[in-house]
Amino acid sequence: MSTTNYLIIGSGVAGLTFALKMANRFPERNITIITKANADESNTKYAQGGIAIVTDKTEDSYQKHIEDTLICGDGLCDEAVVKMVVTEGPKRLKELIEWGAQFDTNAKGTFDLGKEGGHSENRVVHHKDQTGHEIQRAILAQVMQKENITVLDHHFALELITQDNRCVGAYALDEKTNEILTYQSDFTLLATGGIGHLYGHTTNPIIATGDGIAMAYRANAVIKDMEFIQFHPTALNDNSSDSKFLISEAVRGFGARLRTKKGDFFMQNYDSRGDLASRDIVSQSIDLELKKSGDECVYLDCTHLDMIAFKNHFPMIYKHCKDLGIDLEKDWIPVVPAQHYLCGGIVVDRNGKTSVENLFACGECSRTGLHGANRLASNSLLEALVYSDKIYHYLADNPFVASEKTSTVPNWPIQSKTKTSTEYIATTKAKLQLLMRQNAGIVRFDSDLSKAKETLKNMQIEINEIIQNHLVSTELYELNNMIDIGYLIVQQSIERNGNAGGFVKYASKDI
Ligand code: FAD
Ligand code: SIN
Repeated sequence: MSTTNYLIIGSGVAGLTFALKMANRFPERNITIITKANADESNTKYAQGGIAIVTDKTEDSYQKHIEDTLICGDGLCDEAVVKMVVTEGPKRLKELIEWGAQFDTNAKGTFDLGKEGGHSENRVVHHKDQTGHEIQRAILAQVMQKENITVLDHHFALELITQDNRCVGAYALDEKTNEILTYQSDFTLLATGGIGHLYGHTTNPIIATGDGIAMAYRANAVIKDMEFIQFHPTALNDNSSDSKFLISEAVRGFGARLRTKKGDFFMQNYDSRGDLASRDIVSQSIDLELKKSGDECVYLDCTHLDMIAFKNHFPMIYKHCKDLGIDLEKDWIPVVPAQHYLCGGIVVDRNGKTSVENLFACGECSRTGLHGANRLASNSLLEALVYSDKIYHYLADNPFVASEKTSTVPNWPIQSKTKTSTEYIATTKAKLQLLMRQNAGIVRFDSDLSKAKETLKNMQIEINEIIQNHLVSTELYELNNMIDIGYLIVQQSIERNGNAGGFVKYASKDI
């Protein structure tokens, strides 16, 4: 068994920035980060558009950013949280820059601000179209220099360890040795990110399987707003892999327009903000257009844009399209909505505390109340930065109570040596992903949700039995977690009355 003061599960922006702050303030305390893939693999790394932060106080204001966030959240945001997050943005940006992250500036020497759906002003601070990559690079480099931080990559967290509703650590599988290790900690932070691969078609990388939320659920933490799945309107329509390449919303902020296959612009028919309506509305409009036309995708037209300026702002998108034979000067980009973000998750208070003592959650796996029924673009990195700071202050400024109360922590039970067949895992995962796409997508129906709930209950029973009698593996446990997350999404979709933001449900299919 290993002991640590702070156990952090996940090495994206949420986990790394918390680790860094703690390590700087308390060189004598030890911090352990466990992360299931390479340390730089995360949703964070793929963030394109940037971070929504009010830096230009002449055209923009905190009030405008707050209002845009509230409008996007469709009446379900926690207004006090929105104010707190928006107004702390500039301080968190300053820290990122001090840690070495670079953001684009213009000829005047001020930030080059992008625009995305739902924003009334240009306020998105970015590094080309690779903002997440730049942030991940800078903060990981800082973390790696800290002597009191241990980063354990290819360690897959399996379950939290709780005693009387208090978290005292976690079990993790060392993927290189296949050993299950026990980590006892004074405080544990879940920073495990999103759930994309539950849907299959997603902009998320393969690490996004909802593990932290599923672990917290099994540890009886309160989980909320799971029905608010955000579908990004413009994932590249390329069926070569489950993870779909994103065409940033900032491309529409730059002037690109959505067209049907026939060439019609359609967004103005749905919302006065046109192509820059909030994400929920654009995805729902595309969904309707595709149902009407029977087409496979719609198109993003960049042909009228200043291509020199475009290539400067979006070099990765330009190159990715070019490599696929899409010439942005002549061709439209085929796009479809795909799962992108989870607005709900593990409920936390304004200090990032969950309902389980000594367990904190931050970033995409948490539910802070910022996003309500639909997240405003580029508010996610901001939320993670603000909340990791809140958790840091809460733990640093309150008396340190170590885990003296902890009784002996048992090791993981001896396991069966029987391996689960890879075919079973692949088939069950594909069945689950199809179930979610068909029943818990952009538009849902009560009857479908009820049937899906029964199927998911049976899948839970089956996988629990398999886990009891088989060797634990990352793939098996990810499947287990995704089934639990699917159940939560479907159950909370059934419970929600009234449509809002990214949630559209009908009682009957005769609409
Ligand atoms: P992540 O960055 O996803 O990190 C999660 C970490 O947990 C990973 O290291 C993962 O390996 C680890 N992990 C997960 N499960 C386990 C386990 N069982 N055991 C051990 N480790 C585990 N947001 C914006 O604000 N602006 C943008 O421009 C933007 N663009 C985006 C573009 C794309 C393509 C995507 C996918 C997302 C984008 N987002 C954007 C959303 C944003 O990137 C994420 O919400 C945010 O980065 C989440 O950070 P995080 O630290 O919570 O999680
Ligand atoms: C994008 O660049 O379109 C993604 C921004 C986000 O998810 O916040």
